[in-house]
Amino acid sequence: MRKLKLGIIGVGNIGSKHYGHVLDGKCPDIEITAIADRRKVRRDWAMEKYAEAKAKGYSAEAPAVFTEGDDLVASGLCEAVLIAVPHYDHPHFAIEAFRHGQHVMCEKPAGVYTLQVREMIAEADKHPELVFGMMFNQRTNPVYRKMHDIIASGEIGQIRRTSWLITDWYRSQYYYDSGDWRATWSGEGGGVLLNQCPHQLDLWQWICGLPVKVHAKMKYGKWHNIEVEDDVSCWCEYENGATGTFITTTGDCPGTNRFEIVCDGGTLVCDKTSLKLYRLNPWEPEYSKTTKKVFGKPEVTEEIPVLEGENSQHVGVLNAFADAILNGGKLVADGREGIRGLMISNAMHLSDWLNKEVELPFDEELYYNLLKEKIATSRKKTAETVDGDTEGSY
Ligand SMILES: NC(=O)c1ccc[n+]([C@@H]2O[C@H](COP(=O)([O-])OP(=O)(O)OC[C@H]3O[C@@H](n4cnc5c(N)ncnc54)[C@H](O)[C@@H]3O)[C@@H](O)[C@H]2O)c1
Repeated sequence: MRKLKLGIIGVGNIGSKHYGHVLDGKCPDIEITAIADRRKVRRDWAMEKYAEAKAKGYSAEAPAVFTEGDDLVASGLCEAVLIAVPHYDHPHFAIEAFRHGQHVMCEKPAGVYTLQVREMIAEADKHPELVFGMMFNQRTNPVYRKMHDIIASGEIGQIRRTSWLITDWYRSQYYYDSGDWRATWSGEGGGVLLNQCPHQLDLWQWICGLPVKVHAKMKYGKWHNIEVEDDVSCWCEYENGATGTFITTTGDCPGTNRFEIVCDGGTLVCDKTSLKLYRLNPWEPEYSKTTKKVFGKPEVTEEIPVLEGENSQHVGVLNAFADAILNGGKLVADGREGIRGLMISNAMHLSDWLNKEVELPFDEELYYNLLKEKIATSRKKTAETVDGDTEGSY
Protein backbone atom coordinates (compact mmCIF):
# COMPACT_ATOMS: atom_id res chain seq x y z
CA MET A 1 0.00 0.00 0.00
CA ARG A 2 1.26 3.49 -0.75
CA LYS A 3 2.46 5.71 2.07
CA LEU A 4 1.54 9.31 2.82
CA LYS A 5 4.33 11.73 1.88
CA LEU A 6 4.56 13.99 4.91
CA GLY A 7 6.69 17.09 5.53
CA ILE A 8 7.38 18.35 9.06
CA ILE A 9 7.81 22.09 9.54
CA GLY A 10 9.80 22.59 12.75
CA VAL A 11 11.74 19.71 14.31
CA GLY A 12 12.18 21.26 17.74
CA ASN A 13 10.82 19.66 20.91
CA ILE A 14 7.60 18.22 19.54
CA GLY A 15 8.33 18.12 15.79
CA SER A 16 11.29 15.84 16.54
CA LYS A 17 8.97 13.53 18.52
CA HIS A 18 6.63 13.22 15.52
CA TYR A 19 9.59 12.66 13.21
CA GLY A 20 10.97 9.99 15.57
CA HIS A 21 7.61 8.21 15.72
CA VAL A 22 7.55 7.80 11.95
CA LEU A 23 11.22 6.79 11.65
CA ASP A 24 10.83 4.32 14.52
CA GLY A 25 8.05 2.55 12.61
CA LYS A 26 5.08 3.65 14.74
CA CYS A 27 3.30 5.24 11.76
CA PRO A 28 3.61 2.59 9.05
CA ASP A 29 1.45 4.47 6.51
CA ILE A 30 3.64 7.58 6.59
CA GLU A 31 7.02 8.45 5.11
CA ILE A 32 8.79 11.72 5.81
CA THR A 33 9.75 13.26 2.47
CA ALA A 34 10.94 16.63 3.84
CA ILE A 35 11.69 18.49 7.04
CA ALA A 36 12.29 22.19 7.64
CA ASP A 37 13.89 23.96 10.55
CA ARG A 38 15.57 27.35 10.86
CA ARG A 39 18.12 25.92 13.26
CA LYS A 40 21.07 23.99 11.81
CA VAL A 41 21.41 21.93 14.97
CA ARG A 42 17.89 20.54 14.44
CA ARG A 43 18.45 19.89 10.72
CA ASP A 44 21.67 18.04 11.56
CA TRP A 45 19.88 16.08 14.28
CA ALA A 46 17.18 15.05 11.79
CA MET A 47 19.78 13.66 9.37
CA GLU A 48 21.55 11.78 12.18
CA LYS A 49 18.22 10.33 13.28
CA TYR A 50 17.53 9.28 9.68
CA ALA A 51 20.92 7.49 9.42
CA GLU A 52 20.22 5.65 12.69
CA ALA A 53 16.73 4.62 11.58
CA LYS A 54 18.01 3.52 8.15
CA ALA A 55 20.59 1.29 9.87
CA LYS A 56 17.71 -0.27 11.83
CA GLY A 57 15.62 -0.95 8.73
CA TYR A 58 13.66 2.26 7.97
CA SER A 59 13.35 1.92 4.23
CA ALA A 60 12.24 5.34 2.91
CA GLU A 61 14.55 7.76 1.08
CA ALA A 62 16.25 10.46 3.14
CA PRO A 63 13.97 13.50 3.58
CA ALA A 64 14.81 16.71 1.74
CA VAL A 65 15.99 19.33 4.21
CA PHE A 66 14.89 22.97 4.19
CA THR A 67 15.64 25.92 6.40
CA GLU A 68 12.32 27.69 5.83
CA GLY A 69 8.92 26.09 6.12
CA ASP A 70 7.70 28.09 3.09
CA ASP A 71 10.32 26.40 0.90
CA LEU A 72 9.21 22.97 2.09
CA VAL A 73 5.61 23.77 1.16
CA ALA A 74 6.62 25.19 -2.25
CA SER A 75 8.88 22.21 -3.06
CA GLY A 76 5.95 19.97 -3.96
CA LEU A 77 7.67 17.04 -2.23
CA CYS A 78 4.89 16.53 0.32
CA GLU A 79 1.20 15.67 0.08
CA ALA A 80 0.67 16.77 3.65
CA VAL A 81 2.43 18.92 6.23
CA LEU A 82 2.66 18.75 10.00
CA ILE A 83 3.10 22.23 11.47
CA ALA A 84 5.21 22.21 14.64
CA VAL A 85 6.55 25.78 14.85
CA PRO A 86 5.59 28.40 17.49
CA HIS A 87 1.86 29.17 17.65
CA TYR A 88 1.65 32.52 15.81
CA ASP A 89 2.82 30.84 12.59
CA HIS A 90 0.37 27.91 12.58
CA PRO A 91 -2.27 29.70 10.46
CA HIS A 92 0.36 31.03 8.02
CA PHE A 93 1.73 27.58 7.19
CA ALA A 94 -1.70 25.97 7.10
CA ILE A 95 -2.94 28.58 4.62
CA GLU A 96 0.18 28.18 2.44
CA ALA A 97 -0.16 24.39 2.48
CA PHE A 98 -3.86 24.49 1.53
CA ARG A 99 -3.03 26.86 -1.34
CA HIS A 100 -0.45 24.33 -2.55
CA GLY A 101 -2.99 21.50 -2.38
CA GLN A 102 -1.53 19.89 0.74
CA HIS A 103 -3.33 18.29 3.67
CA VAL A 104 -2.58 19.84 7.07
CA MET A 105 -1.99 18.52 10.58
CA CYS A 106 -1.60 21.55 12.84
CA GLU A 107 -0.08 21.49 16.31
CA LYS A 108 -2.10 23.03 19.12
CA PRO A 109 -3.06 25.79 19.68
CA ALA A 110 -4.71 26.54 16.30
CA GLY A 111 -3.16 30.02 16.52
CA VAL A 112 -2.84 32.82 19.04
CA TYR A 113 -5.94 34.88 18.23
CA THR A 114 -9.21 33.80 16.70
CA LEU A 115 -9.10 36.26 13.78
CA GLN A 116 -6.03 34.55 12.31
CA VAL A 117 -7.60 31.13 12.90
CA ARG A 118 -10.76 32.24 11.09
CA GLU A 119 -8.58 33.02 8.04
CA MET A 120 -7.06 29.55 8.27
CA ILE A 121 -10.50 27.92 8.44
CA ALA A 122 -11.77 30.04 5.54
CA GLU A 123 -8.86 28.78 3.40
CA ALA A 124 -9.49 25.19 4.51
CA ASP A 125 -13.13 25.57 3.49
CA LYS A 126 -12.01 26.50 -0.03
CA HIS A 127 -10.36 23.05 -0.27
CA PRO A 128 -12.88 20.52 1.02
CA GLU A 129 -10.90 17.75 -0.68
CA LEU A 130 -7.99 18.38 1.72
CA VAL A 131 -7.85 16.84 5.19
CA PHE A 132 -7.33 19.29 8.05
CA GLY A 133 -6.51 17.86 11.47
CA MET A 134 -5.55 19.35 14.83
CA MET A 135 -3.00 17.70 17.15
CA PHE A 136 -5.31 17.34 20.15
CA ASN A 137 -3.54 14.20 21.31
CA GLN A 138 -5.32 14.11 24.68
CA ARG A 139 -8.57 13.34 22.89
CA THR A 140 -7.25 9.79 22.46
CA ASN A 141 -7.25 9.30 26.24
CA PRO A 142 -9.91 6.65 27.03
CA VAL A 143 -10.86 8.53 30.23
CA TYR A 144 -11.85 11.69 28.35
CA ARG A 145 -13.45 9.69 25.56
CA LYS A 146 -15.61 7.93 28.14
CA MET A 147 -16.58 11.25 29.77
CA HIS A 148 -17.47 12.60 26.34
CA ASP A 149 -19.63 9.56 25.52
CA ILE A 150 -21.45 9.53 28.89
CA ILE A 151 -22.34 13.24 28.65
CA ALA A 152 -23.26 13.03 24.95
CA SER A 153 -25.53 10.01 25.56
CA GLY A 154 -27.60 11.99 28.08
CA GLU A 155 -27.60 9.03 30.47
CA ILE A 156 -26.96 11.26 33.50
CA GLY A 157 -28.99 14.19 32.23
CA GLN A 158 -28.05 17.77 31.65
CA ILE A 159 -24.93 19.44 33.02
CA ARG A 160 -25.37 21.73 36.00
CA ARG A 161 -21.73 22.36 36.99
CA THR A 162 -18.26 21.72 35.52
CA SER A 163 -14.98 22.31 37.27
CA TRP A 164 -11.45 21.66 36.15
CA LEU A 165 -8.58 22.23 38.55
CA ILE A 166 -5.61 21.67 36.28
CA THR A 167 -2.54 22.76 38.17
CA ASP A 168 -0.11 19.95 37.39
CA TRP A 169 1.49 21.74 34.44
CA TYR A 170 4.55 22.66 36.51
CA ARG A 171 7.25 24.54 34.60
CA SER A 172 10.51 25.95 35.98
CA GLN A 173 12.20 29.24 35.12
CA TYR A 174 14.71 27.21 33.10
CA TYR A 175 11.86 25.97 30.89
CA TYR A 176 10.73 29.53 30.23
CA ASP A 177 14.31 30.62 29.52
CA SER A 178 14.82 27.75 27.07
CA GLY A 179 13.56 29.61 23.99
CA ASP A 180 13.40 33.22 22.84
CA TRP A 181 9.73 32.94 21.80
CA ARG A 182 8.48 31.37 25.00
CA ALA A 183 6.30 33.27 27.47
CA THR A 184 6.42 36.58 25.57
CA TRP A 185 3.47 38.45 24.07
CA SER A 186 5.34 38.88 20.79
CA GLY A 187 6.66 35.31 20.49
CA GLU A 188 3.98 33.21 22.14
CA GLY A 189 0.97 35.46 22.67
CA GLY A 190 0.13 34.09 26.11
CA GLY A 191 1.26 31.74 28.83
CA VAL A 192 -0.31 28.67 30.40
CA LEU A 193 -3.56 29.19 28.47
CA LEU A 194 -1.78 29.22 25.11
CA ASN A 195 0.92 26.64 25.70
CA GLN A 196 -0.17 23.99 28.19
CA CYS A 197 -3.95 24.36 28.49
CA PRO A 198 -5.07 24.21 24.86
CA HIS A 199 -5.47 20.48 25.54
CA GLN A 200 -7.82 20.96 28.52
CA LEU A 201 -9.68 23.88 26.97
CA ASP A 202 -10.36 21.70 23.95
CA LEU A 203 -11.47 18.73 26.08
CA TRP A 204 -13.57 20.99 28.30
CA GLN A 205 -15.51 22.34 25.31
CA TRP A 206 -15.55 18.96 23.52
CA ILE A 207 -17.18 17.28 26.50
CA CYS A 208 -19.23 20.12 28.03
CA GLY A 209 -19.80 22.54 25.13
CA LEU A 210 -18.78 26.19 24.79
CA PRO A 211 -19.67 28.56 27.62
CA VAL A 212 -21.64 31.68 26.77
CA LYS A 213 -19.96 33.90 29.42
CA VAL A 214 -16.58 33.89 31.12
CA HIS A 215 -15.16 35.97 33.92
CA ALA A 216 -11.46 35.40 34.51
CA LYS A 217 -8.76 36.75 36.79
CA MET A 218 -5.14 36.04 36.05
CA LYS A 219 -1.66 36.87 37.25
CA TYR A 220 1.19 37.60 34.88
CA GLY A 221 4.62 36.37 35.92
CA LYS A 222 3.38 35.51 39.41
CA TRP A 223 5.61 32.44 39.83
CA HIS A 224 8.21 33.06 37.12
CA ASN A 225 10.10 35.94 35.58
CA ILE A 226 7.85 36.08 32.49
CA GLU A 227 5.46 38.66 31.02
CA VAL A 228 2.49 36.34 30.32
CA GLU A 229 -0.01 34.58 32.63
CA ASP A 230 1.09 31.69 34.84
CA ASP A 231 -1.93 31.69 37.22
CA VAL A 232 -5.56 31.73 36.05
CA SER A 233 -8.96 31.43 37.74
CA CYS A 234 -12.04 31.50 35.54
CA TRP A 235 -15.78 31.28 36.18
CA CYS A 236 -18.12 30.56 33.28
CA GLU A 237 -21.77 30.06 32.44
CA TYR A 238 -23.36 27.81 29.81
CA GLU A 239 -26.42 28.34 27.68
CA ASN A 240 -28.59 26.15 29.96
CA GLY A 241 -27.56 28.16 33.03
CA ALA A 242 -25.00 25.60 34.23
CA THR A 243 -21.84 27.15 35.64
CA GLY A 244 -18.18 26.15 35.52
CA THR A 245 -14.74 26.94 36.85
CA PHE A 246 -11.33 26.46 35.28
CA ILE A 247 -8.23 27.00 37.38
CA THR A 248 -4.69 26.55 36.17
CA THR A 249 -1.08 27.46 36.86
CA THR A 250 2.44 26.37 35.96
CA GLY A 251 3.64 27.24 39.46
CA ASP A 252 2.26 24.44 41.66
CA CYS A 253 4.04 21.18 42.36
CA PRO A 254 2.83 18.45 42.41
CA GLY A 255 -0.41 20.18 41.47
CA THR A 256 -3.79 18.62 40.80
CA ASN A 257 -5.70 17.44 37.77
CA ARG A 258 -9.33 17.01 38.81
CA PHE A 259 -12.16 17.41 36.33
CA GLU A 260 -15.71 17.12 37.67
CA ILE A 261 -18.97 17.28 35.78
CA VAL A 262 -22.14 17.41 37.87
CA CYS A 263 -25.36 16.50 36.09
CA ASP A 264 -28.97 16.07 37.23
CA GLY A 265 -28.59 12.30 37.33
CA GLY A 266 -25.01 11.86 38.49
CA THR A 267 -21.47 13.17 38.73
CA LEU A 268 -18.35 12.26 36.78
CA VAL A 269 -15.07 12.71 38.64
CA CYS A 270 -11.82 12.38 36.77
CA ASP A 271 -8.80 12.50 39.05
CA LYS A 272 -5.70 12.37 36.86
CA THR A 273 -6.10 8.96 35.23
CA SER A 274 -8.98 7.51 37.26
CA LEU A 275 -12.65 8.00 36.46
CA LYS A 276 -15.64 7.50 38.75
CA LEU A 277 -19.32 7.90 38.06
CA TYR A 278 -21.72 8.56 40.94
CA ARG A 279 -25.26 7.80 39.75
CA LEU A 280 -28.31 9.22 41.52
CA ASN A 281 -31.56 7.36 42.04
CA PRO A 282 -33.84 9.11 41.51
CA TRP A 283 -32.26 12.07 39.70
CA GLU A 284 -31.86 15.10 41.93
CA PRO A 285 -34.65 17.30 40.45
CA GLU A 286 -37.22 14.53 40.88
CA TYR A 287 -35.97 13.62 44.37
CA SER A 288 -36.05 17.20 45.54
CA LYS A 289 -39.64 17.66 44.38
CA THR A 290 -41.00 14.38 45.74
CA THR A 291 -39.16 13.52 48.98
CA LYS A 292 -40.80 13.97 52.34
CA LYS A 293 -37.55 13.45 54.27
CA VAL A 294 -36.18 16.62 55.85
CA PHE A 295 -32.49 15.72 55.50
CA GLY A 296 -32.74 12.99 52.84
CA LYS A 297 -30.68 12.60 49.67
CA PRO A 298 -31.06 10.55 46.49
CA GLU A 299 -29.41 7.15 46.66
CA VAL A 300 -25.85 7.31 45.29
CA THR A 301 -24.16 4.37 43.53
CA GLU A 302 -20.46 4.51 42.73
CA GLU A 303 -19.30 3.00 39.43
CA ILE A 304 -15.93 2.73 37.75
CA PRO A 305 -16.74 3.08 34.06
CA VAL A 306 -15.07 0.54 31.77
CA LEU A 307 -12.53 2.30 29.58
CA GLU A 308 -12.03 1.18 26.01
CA GLY A 309 -9.19 1.55 23.53
CA GLU A 310 -5.61 2.57 24.00
CA ASN A 311 -4.23 5.98 24.85
CA SER A 312 -2.34 6.35 21.57
CA GLN A 313 -1.71 10.12 21.92
CA HIS A 314 0.37 11.76 19.14
CA VAL A 315 0.96 8.50 17.28
CA GLY A 316 -2.77 7.80 17.22
CA VAL A 317 -3.57 11.31 15.95
CA LEU A 318 -0.98 11.00 13.16
CA ASN A 319 -2.08 7.52 12.14
CA ALA A 320 -5.72 8.65 12.00
CA PHE A 321 -4.63 11.62 9.85
CA ALA A 322 -2.87 9.27 7.40
CA ASP A 323 -5.91 6.98 7.38
CA ALA A 324 -8.22 9.94 6.70
CA ILE A 325 -6.13 10.93 3.66
CA LEU A 326 -5.40 7.46 2.30
CA ASN A 327 -8.67 5.67 3.11
CA GLY A 328 -11.23 8.30 4.07
CA GLY A 329 -11.00 7.35 7.79
CA LYS A 330 -12.01 9.54 10.72
CA LEU A 331 -9.73 12.17 12.28
CA VAL A 332 -9.19 12.34 16.05
CA ALA A 333 -9.91 16.10 15.90
CA ASP A 334 -10.91 18.18 12.89
CA GLY A 335 -8.73 21.26 12.34
CA ARG A 336 -11.78 23.52 12.31
CA GLU A 337 -12.49 22.61 15.94
CA GLY A 338 -9.22 24.21 17.04
CA ILE A 339 -10.87 27.61 17.23
CA ARG A 340 -13.25 26.56 20.00
CA GLY A 341 -10.75 26.19 22.85
CA LEU A 342 -8.95 29.29 21.57
CA MET A 343 -12.22 31.26 21.77
CA ILE A 344 -12.37 30.38 25.47
CA SER A 345 -8.78 31.38 26.17
CA ASN A 346 -9.02 34.64 24.17
CA ALA A 347 -12.27 35.43 26.04
CA MET A 348 -10.56 34.71 29.38
CA HIS A 349 -7.72 37.11 28.52
CA LEU A 350 -10.17 39.75 27.35
CA SER A 351 -12.18 39.37 30.56
CA ASP A 352 -9.07 39.92 32.68
CA TRP A 353 -7.84 42.84 30.57
CA LEU A 354 -11.23 44.58 30.71
CA ASN A 355 -11.82 43.47 34.31
CA LYS A 356 -15.36 42.31 33.52
CA GLU A 357 -17.46 39.39 32.37
CA VAL A 358 -17.19 38.67 28.64
CA GLU A 359 -19.89 37.04 26.53
CA LEU A 360 -19.11 34.56 23.76
CA PRO A 361 -18.94 35.21 20.87
CA PHE A 362 -16.76 38.12 21.98
CA ASP A 363 -15.36 41.18 20.20
CA GLU A 364 -12.46 39.56 18.36
CA GLU A 365 -11.19 42.85 16.87
CA LEU A 366 -10.98 44.34 20.35
CA TYR A 367 -9.10 41.31 21.60
CA TYR A 368 -6.62 41.55 18.73
CA ASN A 369 -6.09 45.29 19.23
CA LEU A 370 -5.37 44.79 22.94
CA LEU A 371 -3.02 41.90 22.12
CA LYS A 372 -1.17 44.16 19.67
CA GLU A 373 -0.65 46.71 22.47
CA LYS A 374 0.96 43.96 24.55
CA ILE A 375 3.09 42.85 21.61
CA ALA A 376 4.28 46.44 21.12
CA THR A 377 5.69 46.58 24.66
CA SER A 378 6.84 42.94 24.74
CA ARG A 379 10.40 42.52 25.94
CA LYS A 380 12.83 40.95 23.48
CA LYS A 381 14.41 37.77 24.75
CA THR A 382 17.76 36.68 23.45
CA ALA A 383 17.75 33.18 24.95
CA GLU A 384 19.39 30.48 22.96
CA THR A 385 16.93 27.66 22.34
CA VAL A 386 17.54 24.55 24.41
CA ASP A 387 15.88 21.30 23.40
CA GLY A 388 14.58 19.12 26.19
CA ASP A 389 13.03 15.71 26.57
CA THR A 390 9.28 16.31 26.34
CA GLU A 391 8.40 12.79 27.54
CA GLY A 392 5.48 12.93 29.95
CA SER A 393 5.06 16.70 29.59
CA TYR A 394 1.75 16.61 27.75
N1 LIG B 1 0.69 18.41 21.13
C1 LIG B 1 1.62 18.50 22.05
O1 LIG B 1 1.65 17.69 22.96
C2 LIG B 1 2.67 19.58 21.99
C3 LIG B 1 3.81 19.49 22.81
C4 LIG B 1 4.78 20.49 22.69
C5 LIG B 1 4.60 21.54 21.80
N2 LIG B 1 3.45 21.61 21.06
C6 LIG B 1 3.23 22.75 20.12
O2 LIG B 1 4.18 22.65 19.06
C7 LIG B 1 4.64 23.94 18.69
C8 LIG B 1 6.17 23.96 18.78
O3 LIG B 1 6.56 23.79 20.14
P1 LIG B 1 8.02 23.26 20.51
O4 LIG B 1 8.06 23.14 21.97
O5 LIG B 1 8.37 22.08 19.68
O6 LIG B 1 8.90 24.52 20.06
P2 LIG B 1 10.45 24.54 19.69
O7 LIG B 1 10.89 25.95 19.79
O8 LIG B 1 11.18 23.49 20.46
O9 LIG B 1 10.45 24.08 18.15
C9 LIG B 1 9.98 24.87 17.09
C10 LIG B 1 10.94 24.70 15.93
O10 LIG B 1 10.40 25.39 14.80
C11 LIG B 1 11.50 25.96 14.07
N3 LIG B 1 10.95 27.04 13.24
C12 LIG B 1 10.38 28.20 13.67
N4 LIG B 1 9.96 28.92 12.60
C13 LIG B 1 10.29 28.21 11.49
C14 LIG B 1 10.10 28.42 10.10
N5 LIG B 1 9.52 29.52 9.62
N6 LIG B 1 10.56 27.47 9.23
C15 LIG B 1 11.18 26.36 9.70
N7 LIG B 1 11.38 26.11 11.01
C16 LIG B 1 10.93 27.02 11.89
C17 LIG B 1 12.44 26.43 15.18
O11 LIG B 1 13.77 26.57 14.68
C18 LIG B 1 12.32 25.31 16.20
O12 LIG B 1 13.33 24.31 16.07
C19 LIG B 1 3.97 24.93 19.64
O13 LIG B 1 2.87 25.53 18.99
C20 LIG B 1 3.49 24.08 20.79
O14 LIG B 1 2.31 24.55 21.41
C21 LIG B 1 2.51 20.65 21.12
